[in-house]
Amino acid sequence: MKVVVAGSYRELSSTAAAMVRDAVMRRPRLTLGLPTGRTPVGMYDELVRMYRSGMLDLSGVVTFNLDEYYPMDPRDPRSFHAFMRTHLFDHVNVPPDHIHLPDGSAPDPAEACARYEREIERAGGIDLIILGIGRTGHIGFNEPGSPRWARTRLVRLTDETIRANFGTVDAATPRSALSMGTGTIMEARDVILLASGPGKAEIAAKAATGPVTTAVPASILQEHPSVTVILDAAAASLMVSGGRATGGRCGV
Ligand code: GLP
Repeated sequence: MKVVVAGSYRELSSTAAAMVRDAVMRRPRLTLGLPTGRTPVGMYDELVRMYRSGMLDLSGVVTFNLDEYYPMDPRDPRSFHAFMRTHLFDHVNVPPDHIHLPDGSAPDPAEACARYEREIERAGGIDLIILGIGRTGHIGFNEPGSPRWARTRLVRLTDETIRANFGTVDAATPRSALSMGTGTIMEARDVILLASGPGKAEIAAKAATGPVTTAVPASILQEHPSVTVILDAAAASLMVSGGRATGGRCGV
């Protein structure tokens, strides 16, 4: 696990975007695993800027998002489908039939998850997956205690995650999601984990240098052969050398 500390959120975002661009240039038909949440927004902004300036062609890329709320209509503005249209897909040239997210509107969630796994397999697996990390240490929506070899499945969200993602909670707030499992994530060939801000300092340190435990799902990444953790200074503030992390300062 390589840990790089960016001088700012902007540098974190441009570093991550540059890694994605380089991967796409090496492999135009890259299969890309994508996250949602606040952390990757700066990276998406940078990828859109690169595309608009002719520095990036995503026409061959195939994408698989980590998760989607369940039940959730893809037209609902709270959906991750809507998030990805707003922050990326409406602004770049990924062909619509190359875009995959778990189907939050499926009548049978188990069948939708099995179908998602088949689609990933048919695409040849995920080449590069970008992850954020939740305050509970979740990746995707694999909450603490998730079986480490879990596949894409229906998961119950913790109250902390629901509050972090929705703020106010009412009867219409989804309490479940369809999420790639840590088993699915660990099969990606390369992993980038992003963490920004002081609120992620403790969980980032646990994930990168603490014990590998299902209590901190992201810690399982320490056993992946190709992980780059990109943090800004605030998120890296509790990172001590140790564990399997090797530190370094990135520059762009
Ligand atoms: C959600 C997503 C995760 C994301 C996490 C952190 O729960 N399912 O994929 O990493 O939130 O989001 P943020 O980057 O907003 O802190």
